[in-house]
Amino acid sequence: MCGIVGYVGARECTEVLLNSLSKLEYRGYDSAGIAVFENGEIKTQKSKGKIADLVAKMDSEGKLMGHCGIGHTRWATHGEPSDINSHPHGNANVTIVHNGIIENYKKIKEFLEKKGYVFESETDTETVAKLLDCFYEGNPIATIQRVLDEVEGSYALGIMFRDYPNRIYAVRKDSPLIVAVGDDEAFIASDVPAVLKYTKKYYLLDQDEIAVLDSGRVEFFDDHGAPIKKQLLVADFDEEAAKKGNYPHYMIKEIHDQPTAIRTTITPRITDGMPDLEECGMTYDRLRDYNNIFVVACGTAMHAGLVGKYVIEKIARISVTVDVASEFRYRDPILTDKDLVILVSQSGETADTLEALRLAKRNGADTLSIVNVKGSSIARESDMVIYTHAGPEISVASTKAYMVQLSVFYLIAFALAYANDKMTAEECRRLTAQLQAVPEQIEEILKTPEDCQYVASQLVNAENLLYIGRGLDYALSMEGSLKLKEISYIHSESYAAGELKHGTISLVTDEMPVIAVATQRDLYDKTISNVKEVKARGAYVVLVTHDSKEVDNDVADCKIGLPTIDDLLMPMTAVVPLQLIAYYTSVLRGNDVDKPRKLAKSVTVE
Ligand code: F6R
Repeated sequence: MCGIVGYVGARECTEVLLNSLSKLEYRGYDSAGIAVFENGEIKTQKSKGKIADLVAKMDSEGKLMGHCGIGHTRWATHGEPSDINSHPHGNANVTIVHNGIIENYKKIKEFLEKKGYVFESETDTETVAKLLDCFYEGNPIATIQRVLDEVEGSYALGIMFRDYPNRIYAVRKDSPLIVAVGDDEAFIASDVPAVLKYTKKYYLLDQDEIAVLDSGRVEFFDDHGAPIKKQLLVADFDEEAAKKGNYPHYMIKEIHDQPTAIRTTITPRITDGMPDLEECGMTYDRLRDYNNIFVVACGTAMHAGLVGKYVIEKIARISVTVDVASEFRYRDPILTDKDLVILVSQSGETADTLEALRLAKRNGADTLSIVNVKGSSIARESDMVIYTHAGPEISVASTKAYMVQLSVFYLIAFALAYANDKMTAEECRRLTAQLQAVPEQIEEILKTPEDCQYVASQLVNAENLLYIGRGLDYALSMEGSLKLKEISYIHSESYAAGELKHGTISLVTDEMPVIAVATQRDLYDKTISNVKEVKARGAYVVLVTHDSKEVDNDVADCKIGLPTIDDLLMPMTAVVPLQLIAYYTSVLRGNDVDKPRKLAKSVTVE
């Protein structure tokens, strides 16, 4: 989604804005722009396309020179990607960048048109810029507050007023924004990686708080305009962690980050070989309290919840319902104070997941979030939070965040099973030790990517693909299928293997490759029967299963073998070849792996 940056200080600000914007490219965007105070005037440069297109424009028109400015990468919502619709928006008096959606922009626009304002763009943002101009009487904070009283929706705003050169005003509601500080310089950004080149120190802006940035000073005001003190935070990762290093893409780097990410996430949550979630409020007493569990999330994070459901239900015997957040919000779910709602989110800012959390709280359920970004909205608003420690995930296609979400679900499942007397301490210790062994197994799998590269070479020209599996393998293949389609643009679906012959098998021909996942030994023979059915209809079959399984040629064209671990934990290792197949297929198709078309990393609008 849109990215916001801002800088005030001694450095040449265009350079800082471009550098910071480039660090937000991963969020997804289709145009970029900046506004800079140049000789006391606000000057704007913007362009449809990539940051490189903006730079090309600067090369021909001349670079804006100054020490205070705001910048933006836009992911179009209202109006097509174009120079005119790109941010910043405003006029000589007030100029803004905006992330979010102004829901009542039509009403505001009508009000402003009656006052004689003429609109250039199709954006909702321009209405906010013009409303600021309309209400401005010399006091920026009072003006911002008056405007915020009128607008409905979500926003993170960076604002510059001509009357206050070398000053940035910032405010947010339901869209992320941080304020970072260095020596005599200050920044705003949608995300910490945007400023790591300059500083690790930052503040989290809360709902409707206003920040005023000057080179030497940052001040904060609450929603009544009273000055407030805020806690200064220090990022626990550096610029290196947000870099590709020697890898050609972030996605492959992040796939390789997975063993470390799991260790960093689970080690502090294991005491004497047993899961220990007390630090986040999940005491064993509390774990005995719940009648039902709901897992609510979007996309890949929801897929982690599907694995969590199988594991929790199997070993803890507590009913788990998994919902897509955008459905959960509107389906009037039945919740009680005996229910636990688990929200899963890498970014912690996904709009639908955040609203689902608020709905769960209004209905009296306990809420627990599994979140990667520290201090994000979902983490801050939920009753309990378990932070995953994946570090920054830059590739739009999520890999390591999914992996650590899985590892947290295993810890929760083991703890629930033990707390509810469904598992002995001995069994709990054994499974926890197996979980601790997963990172080493992934390291082994990553040493020999050749099979996955070969499979990718066989899939590269496919137009359609099926993933099949049963039980945990079905839950996992949903993630495999999403990974492939989002970065290779090959249409793919995931099916419960036993469901194929109820309709979908009619699509299977020699032009429909099938990736079958069969890691659950109790279901192996049944899945293999389904695999034979698709093979008999001409499909090219890839079988992902245990190393130890002998696979005949009449079953599969290619086998990807996995080391042995408890079947319950197989999704953690089996997902790795699925990630690699998606990655190499995308590379072979010449796609922009880390920034797939039309996608945004952090979906902060509904
Ligand atoms: C796919 C992917 C998305 C996200 C989804 C939720 O690779 O990354 O499906 O999982 O948009 O995002 P978060 O986890 O930030 O809530």
